Amino acid sequence: MKKIVTIFLCVLAIASCKQKSNDPDAEMNRFINDLMSKMTLEEKVGQLNLPAVGFDVTGPVLSKDVDTKIRKGMVGGVFNTFTPDAVRKLQSIAVNETRLGIPLIFGYDVVHGHKTIFPVPLGLSSSWDMELIQKVAHASAVEASADGLNWTFSPMVDIARDPRWGRVSEGSGEDPYLGACIGKAMVKGYEPLIFSCVKHFALYGAGEAGRDYNTVDMSRQRMYNEYFPPYKAAIDAGASTVMTSFNEIDGMPATGCKWLLTEVLRKEWGFKGFVVTDYTAMMEMVNHGVGDTLKVGELALNAGTDMDMVSEIFADHGVELVKSGRVSEKTVDAACRRILEAKYKLGLFKDPYCFVNQEKADKEIMSADKLELSKEAAIKSMVLLKNDNQVLPLNPGQKIAFIGPQVKRQRDLIGNWSGAGDWHKSVTLWNALEEEYGKDKFLYALGCNLIDDKGLIDKLNPHGAELYPSEKTPQQLIEEAVHVARQAEVVVVALGEAFGMSGEAASRSNIGLLNNQVELLKALKKTGTPIVLLLMNGRPLTLEWEDENMDAILEAWFPGTQGGYAIADVLFGKANPSGKITMTFPRNTGQIPIYYNHKNTGRPFDANQKYTTKYLDISNEPLYPFGYGLSYTTFEYGKIVLSGNQLDAGQSLTASIDVQNTGKYAGTETVQLYIRDKVGSVTRPVKELKGFRQVTLNPGEKKTISFTITENDLKFYNADLKFVAEPGEFDVFIGGNSRDTKQTTFVYD
Ligand code: NOJ
Repeated sequence: MKKIVTIFLCVLAIASCKQKSNDPDAEMNRFINDLMSKMTLEEKVGQLNLPAVGFDVTGPVLSKDVDTKIRKGMVGGVFNTFTPDAVRKLQSIAVNETRLGIPLIFGYDVVHGHKTIFPVPLGLSSSWDMELIQKVAHASAVEASADGLNWTFSPMVDIARDPRWGRVSEGSGEDPYLGACIGKAMVKGYEPLIFSCVKHFALYGAGEAGRDYNTVDMSRQRMYNEYFPPYKAAIDAGASTVMTSFNEIDGMPATGCKWLLTEVLRKEWGFKGFVVTDYTAMMEMVNHGVGDTLKVGELALNAGTDMDMVSEIFADHGVELVKSGRVSEKTVDAACRRILEAKYKLGLFKDPYCFVNQEKADKEIMSADKLELSKEAAIKSMVLLKNDNQVLPLNPGQKIAFIGPQVKRQRDLIGNWSGAGDWHKSVTLWNALEEEYGKDKFLYALGCNLIDDKGLIDKLNPHGAELYPSEKTPQQLIEEAVHVARQAEVVVVALGEAFGMSGEAASRSNIGLLNNQVELLKALKKTGTPIVLLLMNGRPLTLEWEDENMDAILEAWFPGTQGGYAIADVLFGKANPSGKITMTFPRNTGQIPIYYNHKNTGRPFDANQKYTTKYLDISNEPLYPFGYGLSYTTFEYGKIVLSGNQLDAGQSLTASIDVQNTGKYAGTETVQLYIRDKVGSVTRPVKELKGFRQVTLNPGEKKTISFTITENDLKFYNADLKFVAEPGEFDVFIGGNSRDTKQTTFVYD
């Protein structure tokens, strides 16, 4: 018997040994257990503090005496410090001058590039090219990590249906499926080189009236079906951190919302990383009206917030909260552990200076391959919204006039969230034209100031909206432009927003071109010379008049460091535009919120019936629908062919369609698959994107594009928030945008 027991114990020991060696986190856990056993409560609380050092603040508060606080062990990470020298300086205080020498983590907003700036995210999303997006994120991570950073506050995956909200420029538009694909691609591009941070959790894009930081109120069903998918996808892809949003969820600011941060994020979704607040979001809970500083600290810690960006409430009150029993030490331990784990995984305990390497910085920052990628991304982001009579592409043999402030302005090219980017290094359209075609090849006139609204300029400063206003009167500028346009065979008018007109704290109640810009267009229209309107902006604009009156419209967004080269290539046909908008362009602001995947309602639109859902003064239809974008060539779609008319549980169906290039240029088309669940236990959208494929075709070439449809594509969160597919009839739509599609039906049983 004794022998049997001994053998049994041996087997058990071997098994547990095996288990230990198979546990990839065993070594990390041992290390952190050991470290934490030496830490005082004060030191643990210190790890939860993230002050900002530097100039790029996005709120009224700037952290003070950060060096001293690091020395006292009161800082876990630093936001806003980069360059090898600056990082080394702070890191060495943490490592050499604190009791336990715990290294800092360094975070920053590397949102669409670090030094090499890529198109703003809304633009990049218009490429629908996941490989490109991943490459862009990776290139950004390489540059950031070479500059001392190991954590980016990106991707922003907030679904946005209201273009009045300036921050639509930082996200991927209105669609949960596409948003999820993009969130995933970005996380895979950043990690594991640096840590990503999924933001803003949650629902930040749904602020009432499109006003930044405004109240959100939403049903759980809408959250789960329409707003949560991109956050979840980014987390499933391995995002290491999550940022809370400024807004409230069910009446509680996200930073103090236990349901969101613990029940959903950690328990339902299994998130293992750490949660940081947005900039001063914790102290803003006082303004929200849920308690004083002590109370909001308690709410935040108990909700599952781990790190406090800039409020310093954890640093000031963390110890007191534990000592008074309002927060358990276990809760602080858990938060501290998550932050230490992050540092361990980044390799900072092995080498606190592993991100500090001047040689690498010199080699990687703005390297030729990154500049090339920036140009490629800008080309693929551009969306051709209109092109009558094939006025584009231009022919350099034509007499062409370039008019408008965005022909020569440098600053706007890199957009708003280009924190570390140097706009002096961005290439304007005019630079690119001169380089490629010589100095006096084209005509030029300014035409108007970008902004002629004094109030707006004041509001935009110090974000430098109008850097080079002309001394001339608006009338003189227009007269000059008209004179130039009369000499030309075609004019390109480059207009849009100043970079500070979209982005954070940049909501607009009117999202059309500014009046002075429209006045210019009206005067030019009278010359009869064909007009190409070239737009640079960070949000969908209302362009009804422009759509009626311009010959072509090319949306270039804020295209990044190499923007000028990219635009020149597209205008002259060296590249064929292939971008498709990821946010609906409304006809006017009265239609907002407007999005393709809306519900049918009980009284769907019927032009012949008064009592149906519509406006008296405008169509329900957007100006340009989600997924829309033209090419210099044309694509014709055949009929959808299904592999069967029935999808059985656990099986799949194939939906195929022939796509042919029927024009004169080689081009890339994004073929989109939408599905409609015709009858549900709860109401379902009229259409939902469920897949897309990109295909490049030569003139005349035809290819069959196939999609596999599985049960999973039919699933949604029902009234009990269960993710289910329900038997019944489904419509399938395939086309080049969400409006112009072929259609067929199948049954799911
Ligand atoms: C506030 C913004 O909401 C957030 O996106 C950003 O990461 C932080 N400021 C830090 O700059």
